Amino acid sequence: MTLQIKSFDEYKDVYKRSVEDPEGFWAEQASTFTWRRKWDKTLEWNFREPNVKWFAGGKLNITENCLDRHLDTRGGQVAILFEPNRPEAPVQKYTYKELHAAVCKTANALKANGVGKGDRVCFYMPMVPELAIGVLACARIGAVHSVVFAGFSAQALADRIIDAQCKMVICSDYNDRGAKSIPVKEVVDQAMNMGCESVETVLVHKNTGGPADMPDARYKWWHDEVDGQSAICEAEEMDAEDMLFILYTSGSTGKPKGVVHTCGGFMVYTAYSFKNVFQYQDGDIYWCTADIGWITGHSYIVYGPLLAGATTLMFEGVPTYPDAGRFWAVCEKHKVNQFYTAPTAIRALMAQGDKWTEGYDLSSIKVLGSVGEPINEEAWEWYYHRIGKGNAPIVDTWWQTETGGILISGLGGLSPMKPAHAGYPLPGIQPCLVDSNGALLEGNDVEGLLCMKFPWPSMLRTTYGDHERCRQTYFAAFQDMYFTGDGARRDKNGMYRIIGRVDDVINVSGHRMGTAEVENAINEHPKVIESAVVGYPHEIKGQGIYAYVIVSGPVGDEEAFRKEILAVVTKEIGPIAKPDKIQIVSGLPKTRSGKIMRRILRKVASGDTSNLGDVSTLLNPEVVDEIKTGALAD
Ligand code: WTA
Repeated sequence: MTLQIKSFDEYKDVYKRSVEDPEGFWAEQASTFTWRRKWDKTLEWNFREPNVKWFAGGKLNITENCLDRHLDTRGGQVAILFEPNRPEAPVQKYTYKELHAAVCKTANALKANGVGKGDRVCFYMPMVPELAIGVLACARIGAVHSVVFAGFSAQALADRIIDAQCKMVICSDYNDRGAKSIPVKEVVDQAMNMGCESVETVLVHKNTGGPADMPDARYKWWHDEVDGQSAICEAEEMDAEDMLFILYTSGSTGKPKGVVHTCGGFMVYTAYSFKNVFQYQDGDIYWCTADIGWITGHSYIVYGPLLAGATTLMFEGVPTYPDAGRFWAVCEKHKVNQFYTAPTAIRALMAQGDKWTEGYDLSSIKVLGSVGEPINEEAWEWYYHRIGKGNAPIVDTWWQTETGGILISGLGGLSPMKPAHAGYPLPGIQPCLVDSNGALLEGNDVEGLLCMKFPWPSMLRTTYGDHERCRQTYFAAFQDMYFTGDGARRDKNGMYRIIGRVDDVINVSGHRMGTAEVENAINEHPKVIESAVVGYPHEIKGQGIYAYVIVSGPVGDEEAFRKEILAVVTKEIGPIAKPDKIQIVSGLPKTRSGKIMRRILRKVASGDTSNLGDVSTLLNPEVVDEIKTGALAD
């Protein structure tokens, strides 16, 4: 079984060994899994191309490690515990044996519909067990899954389907979310009319059973295709470096890119980090509230926990339905031992008042996790004292879609904790800080740009269909380093505090958003000539979206115009990208070379209009005063 560190002293020893002999260390971890054939070479790498290969030549199937491997020892144990949106609806349980059968049947249905090794399958589904089952079914037959968060618009979905040339799309009829029923399939129907020619089949899972028509012969019901299949499906033999999945994420420029993860390294690292960060013990009930549409759901709802033989809770609903006590009601109901959520959820619940936390027995909780954005001290203290009652350590886990797994975090209960500090790197992880010229900042009590100077098994291998973009984005800024896009501080004890993005990516309610992407969407409005989007501090969301917009003529009713902007962003990307504030301006501060001075826009958006620095070198210094005067207060 995966090595589990038991004390902070042991962590220090393991860490030391892991950086002195990374190959030996990771080979040892990898050997705790089931391989059809052992790898030839543990690691081959350079960050120039980049070319990173872990366990090359090794043959495996990740689902044999998630499922088959557990059948003898824990076939009857619950693998997926499903808590539906409505508290009164029955809980669903899949034991490892049942999950294995469900995955095999689904895998056979995919094969029967012409999906094979290397084909891409897009998922657009709410948080129902069939999403996890479908993802694993792909992995079973070597198909590559590309899960798209079901809050994205038809346009965003179509862009992703086309980029990955998906052969199949799997969706639900509706999403039962809070008090609403969201027509998921309708979004897919629209996307299908946006040039998704690669799609041969749309498989529709009947979730709520609401009215649904099948627009054309490509559409099939999940139950018609899956239910009659055999529960035996031989797993496809994959190379460690074969693609496991694509997940689209936003960057500073252009359209979202498809981050590519591969089978072997992703498996080894997610299992290892899961066991150690959450200190998961056999029999524990683990709950991560993320959506499988994001990396956190991939690594720490599906793969990591199942690889470790855990019971992973999947929640269909939202934190405030039927009321703001739902998270705690679910923790009590299922006696959750590890609870993993995002600071934005903590802040939102905190704002509803302490009364919603009262009356629940939360004594089962052993570890509390945080992910997705920096957790501010106030939220940290509330989480620690209100929810953990001062007994459950907080792990503030820093990582990214690209890293595949948690890189910097405490190990639950073992490591020293400091509010707002992610802490120390996991074994095998070699972070460093550099200044903007790429000079290494040695020692402690320093602040700079966060990079990684050595590969780890679950790092991205490429961006789908565009390797050069991967090189440019992550490996070109500083020689022989992976650049994270985050700024960080190493305190006097060597603990890392993540400050936030230093590029044009903003983090809204833990969702990553490229400002360029939002600008492109706003610019689709016929009256908009140009726009500039920046983040600003937002009490609940972490960052809010502030849009400066230049229009071509009088807009008439400004409120109506703002609504049109929100509608166009919702159409192009989805409601999560809607600006919180829209300021109409006559110009944007630009340098003489035509570059927007975002620094000024960020400052004004944050409500600080004092001391904007020297603006005299701008092409149009006069707009700065106008922007200041028109700035939108809360
Ligand atoms: C931010 C989410 C501070 C960071 C797993 C990173 C964090 C981006 C933390 C990746 C944390 C994530 N503390 N910041 N504990 N975790 N971030 O790809 O800016 O959706 O670069 O992956 O979220 O977001 P992504």
